[in-house]
Amino acid sequence: MLITNIKGLVGVHSKETLSLRGSELNQLPILENAWLLIEDGLIKDFGLMSNLNTQYANLNTINAEGRFVFPSWCDSHTHLIFAAPREEEFALKIAGKTYEEIAAAGGGILNSASKLLQASEDELFESASIRLSDMIKQGTGAVEIKSGYGLTVESELKMLRIIQRLKAAFPIPIKATLLAAHAYPTEYKNNHQAYIDLIINALLPKVAAESLADYIDVFCEKGFFSNKETAQILEAGAKYGLKPKIHANQLSSTGAVQIGLAHQAVSVDHLEETDTDVLQALGQSPTIATLLPSCSFYINIPFANAKGLLSHNAIVALASDYNPGSAPSGNMNFVVSLACIKLKMTPEQAVNAATLNGSAAMQLSNEVGSIAIGKKANLFITRPMTSLAYLPYSFGQSQVETVILNGEIYHG
Ligand code: NIG
Ligand code: FE
Repeated sequence: MLITNIKGLVGVHSKETLSLRGSELNQLPILENAWLLIEDGLIKDFGLMSNLNTQYANLNTINAEGRFVFPSWCDSHTHLIFAAPREEEFALKIAGKTYEEIAAAGGGILNSASKLLQASEDELFESASIRLSDMIKQGTGAVEIKSGYGLTVESELKMLRIIQRLKAAFPIPIKATLLAAHAYPTEYKNNHQAYIDLIINALLPKVAAESLADYIDVFCEKGFFSNKETAQILEAGAKYGLKPKIHANQLSSTGAVQIGLAHQAVSVDHLEETDTDVLQALGQSPTIATLLPSCSFYINIPFANAKGLLSHNAIVALASDYNPGSAPSGNMNFVVSLACIKLKMTPEQAVNAATLNGSAAMQLSNEVGSIAIGKKANLFITRPMTSLAYLPYSFGQSQVETVILNGEIYHG
């Protein structure tokens, strides 16, 4: 397949560039008036229209005149398997209740867990498939999915098996994360160690035996998992080769980031609450700072300090956090808009963070995340756009016109 007359071919980073830190995010290489050749599902070559090889004339060709071609969004943090939405909490939130108050009153994660317990694996697979297909149509071409609404051995395994089925059913790379440490089930409210022991002794060996997870996550937060509890779980995961990607500094700054860094986390995610120590630590670390502005937007908490992270030289990624409680949307176009509007990232920084750095946060940047020869042809063609900035500027609307995965048009 050949794509011609591309107004802007976005994210033409060198193949060796696997992530971007600090001021490197300012550079989003764009080839103007370009063509792109796809062969065997991979990016085979690209160049300027003035140098288009005439031997390509017979190929199946898409004329992208006036349009931009982007590498697919790489959404490195989602909880897209859930049994039911939580609109009842929406009303409570509008009435002024905070996320913590709703959770403490038995809403929140525990509410989702009791609903998931009742749902069959097939039902959950079907509803997750619809969400994932919608996300793909909005430009997402690689995704991470967490468990964490199971909170029993069987229910967590059920979630992870559904992720395995999604991996087999969808034409995009998918990474699975074990998030059994998402909240304490009510029966363990006064016996945290017993739940941790269950994760470590009963769940982890099964997850490892069936190779059901790529990463391990903990909601390290006041009222959820303490720093010590988080460390214990991450150490147990490490014995099975599971690297951490953790929920850190979402509601308070109490050392979660430092716990992640001490355990060589691939990413620490959220970071709505940071102090200078956190910014400095991330600026000197290979751990990726993944920001989730849809969550701040939806539950009315502070937006992460993206500018501070970038000026301290951190590797900043953007993801959707798609989940029923704090971010009921998997729309990465909106995430990129929010990053510009609320985090004050430039369109170039935001696109880099949502593509190449997102792929790095899933250890997939050899395969996806930029336009480079040999990478998967996972990309999208926009509607006609005046400039790159039009995409985040036109918030709430999708400029994605054609999705191409493994070199084939995705119809969903
Ligand atoms: O990333 N903070 C923890 N987990 C999710 C929310 C989960 C929920 O409310 O169901 C998050 O925001
Ligand atoms: Fe999350």
